[in-house]
Amino acid sequence: MHMKYENIIVDTEEKIQIVTINRPSKLNALNQKTIEELSHAIDAAEASKDVSVVIITGKGEKAFVAGADISEFSSFSAEEGRLLSKNGHEKLFNRIDNLKTPVIAAVNGFALGGGLELAMAAHIRLFSENAKVGLPETSLGLIPGYGGTQRLAQIAGKGRAMQMILSAEMIDASTAFNFGIANAVLPLENLMEASKKQAEKIIKNSPMAVAKAIQCINANYSSEMNGLEHEVDTFGSCFDTSDFTEGVHAFLEKRNANFNNNH
Ligand code: COA
Repeated sequence: MHMKYENIIVDTEEKIQIVTINRPSKLNALNQKTIEELSHAIDAAEASKDVSVVIITGKGEKAFVAGADISEFSSFSAEEGRLLSKNGHEKLFNRIDNLKTPVIAAVNGFALGGGLELAMAAHIRLFSENAKVGLPETSLGLIPGYGGTQRLAQIAGKGRAMQMILSAEMIDASTAFNFGIANAVLPLENLMEASKKQAEKIIKNSPMAVAKAIQCINANYSSEMNGLEHEVDTFGSCFDTSDFTEGVHAFLEKRNANFNNNH
């Protein structure tokens, strides 16, 4: 699974894989190569027993990701546009949303278009105070194509999604917090530390249970699944696992649980 990355930096320490999008001169805009590399890094994280949480952030102090790379699709046809969106969904955005390994977006500045869509595909979003986010696609004669029309409505509600997408305007970090888009807002210098602390709170729990919980929460948004029925079956399946045995014994013995690495 080894691959040399050009546009991202991947560091793994203490079960946390930090993926930094590294095109600061283009405000970390997502070109195809970057999407491929992110997709690869996400797959590798899920497959690795050394990774329990992924944190995605942007290089520099200005941008998380300022959107899809506009220069790359400026002369696309309708079919090319459709494929750009479809491939993005399949390779990266839906993959992140449904990853067994939890993903935290550390939004360190502008997150526009595909940048906000990337953050919204993640399971938890922490924002720096200077973050500014929006879905400006309608100002370009487009609509969001990496899940924004669906996930913004799911996360912030339909009315706010309508407002943000139709106006194409950016909102600041405190508004994003009020809208439920940001889980927390922190000074930029504390963002990575807070993201790692958030990761550590997840890492102490059963990776199997965490993965099943992600799947069940997402079932509510799937047209193919009945979320409550899925919860009943998944809840039951936990009882057959060694993590359940260990978790319950550890509680009764008043010690920390020592869970498996498997999700
Ligand atoms: N795609 C391609 N390049 C981008 C980009 C994007 N989405 N966003 C920024 N860049 C590039 C700029 O073209 C510029 O490159 P250059 O120095 O080679 O000319 C560089 O990143 C710096 O951006 P710049 O616009 O000069 O910075 P700024 O501080 O003046 O403005 C923004 C910052 C975020 C407001 C502005 O870059 C912007 O509006 N970006 C596009 C956002 C957008 O519409 N995204 C949705 C795409 S679907």
